[in-house]
Amino acid sequence: MRGIGQSEVPHRTFLERCHRASRTPVLWSPGHRLSARASNDLQFLSLILPWRPSFKLSCCSERSSTPPQLDIASMIGPRGMACAGGLLARVGSRSVISRAVRLSSPLRPLPATVTVPAARWWRAQYSTRPELPKEVTINSKTYPVDAEWFNVSSTILNLTSRKLHLQKDHPVSITRQIIESVFPSPTYLSYNNLDPVVTTHENFDSLGFPPNHPGRAKTDTYYINSTTLLRTHTSAHEAELFAASKSPGYLISADVYRRDEIDKSHYPVFHQMEGARVWDRNTVPNGDIVAAVHRDLDALPKHEMIIEDPNPPFHPERNPLQPSHTPEEAEAVGKHLKRSLELMVAEIFKRVKESHARAGVKEQDGEPLKVRWVEAYFPFTSPSWEMEVWYQGDWLEVLGCGVSQQHILNDAGVPNQIGWAFGLGLERIAMLLFQIPDIRLFWSQDERFLGQFRGVEGDLGKLRPFVGFSRHPACYKDVSFWLPAGSTGAAAAGGKGREGGEWHENDLMEVVRDVCGDVVEDVVLMDSFTHPKTGRRSFCYRVNYRSLERTLTNEEANGLHERVKEEMVGRLGVEIR
Ligand code: DAH
Repeated sequence: MRGIGQSEVPHRTFLERCHRASRTPVLWSPGHRLSARASNDLQFLSLILPWRPSFKLSCCSERSSTPPQLDIASMIGPRGMACAGGLLARVGSRSVISRAVRLSSPLRPLPATVTVPAARWWRAQYSTRPELPKEVTINSKTYPVDAEWFNVSSTILNLTSRKLHLQKDHPVSITRQIIESVFPSPTYLSYNNLDPVVTTHENFDSLGFPPNHPGRAKTDTYYINSTTLLRTHTSAHEAELFAASKSPGYLISADVYRRDEIDKSHYPVFHQMEGARVWDRNTVPNGDIVAAVHRDLDALPKHEMIIEDPNPPFHPERNPLQPSHTPEEAEAVGKHLKRSLELMVAEIFKRVKESHARAGVKEQDGEPLKVRWVEAYFPFTSPSWEMEVWYQGDWLEVLGCGVSQQHILNDAGVPNQIGWAFGLGLERIAMLLFQIPDIRLFWSQDERFLGQFRGVEGDLGKLRPFVGFSRHPACYKDVSFWLPAGSTGAAAAGGKGREGGEWHENDLMEVVRDVCGDVVEDVVLMDSFTHPKTGRRSFCYRVNYRSLERTLTNEEANGLHERVKEEMVGRLGVEIR
């Protein structure tokens, strides 16, 4: 986790960058006149001042002949930062800074001439966005970076080595092991070390994602270059494992990456498990797939869960049979798929129950375990379903699955095979298995978290619900801003399918994560509005600063919030209101 202030640019470096960028000596000298033509320049200046708390700044409105005196020193909080926003807010967009007066001696001699760098320069030069590298190395492999596509921050790059699914006694790893036990070898082989960097072909094309699928957008996916990305799902490895054809079934557990909102159940890196099972017309007795699948189905254990499965095995409009499959084949494969996954869920909930009993937790409702199958759509399966589990009074979506699209198997060079696949999120299951209330906890290195699972991997009889740390107070801070002129914000509030250059909420989420690390619990859109005359869009988001591990002071939260605002201006080009 990054510490508070980790990405703060030290004063020296900052000024030196100013020098380099403007090619003339930069900034003010005592008593020097500064003129800033645009509000963006003002924002820039106000950001410099925190490192110069010894300056008094005079501002005046372009429209007013009597400059209102703004005493920057009096606005400076203990961390300096608070003043930046304060100044901005008060100066507004039609002001100019007329004078900066040194009140006490600065840290080092200041250059003589003044040039106020423009916001565009600021955006390009000074932000926590990593400077564009020529290449990146991930898990000891190096990939060329493409400036137009690269959008992986160092925060995310640093997480590529964590591999929580392989960390001994980590709840994600324990969950993986429990699920693996339901899909035993040699029928199912497990692949837990596949590289997170994949091609757009593997992640999307091979699975039949259309070229305009929103999942491909830079706002949703972390790209290294135009054809290389951090996998967004474990399905990216389906084709290669079908092609390898080492066993009738396989399981993949891996870290996956998605630019997403910030709340208790979303984190830009999480872990998925993919499973698949095929039958080969060339090797089953008499080439009879249906008989072979039924034999395997009969060999599976039974369970006592209540299953709601009201829909037919396929449906011409809602959930079509594939042309190359007979109805009997699709039905048999679907049945085997559903029973296998029901057994997996039964195993998880058996463990939940046992753990509750051990900890003396009273079950919320005495109801038996209930599962339902819902028709779904995925580009890579048909028919497709989602499985939902009745949990604490609500239907909880647990996984997606279906009969694999035949073209994937054909393209993988195994056209004689037919089979099913599923994909699930390990954190989601771990959260209910261990009663973990916030997804950020999985990344915690705090012994109070990790210590609670020690020894469980070797003995599932030790599995107990997580006992939360005392909850620290929430600290809400709002940020209201105008989108850059010309940006419609059509895709702002979770809307998908935007073109490059447009505003997207996920970009804001990324800024918040980069600046604040894991101390933000959620970011919620409170209000949006379009100016009736100018047509400009404005949004208000509420950021909840709440660390899982300690109480944040209001001052710290203020400091972070100001930094978030600065970065929003610098990186996203918005105008704070
Ligand atoms: N890849 C899907 C996702 O990330 C999950 C999934 C759905 C995987 C259906 C599958 C499947 O293999 O058949 O949302």
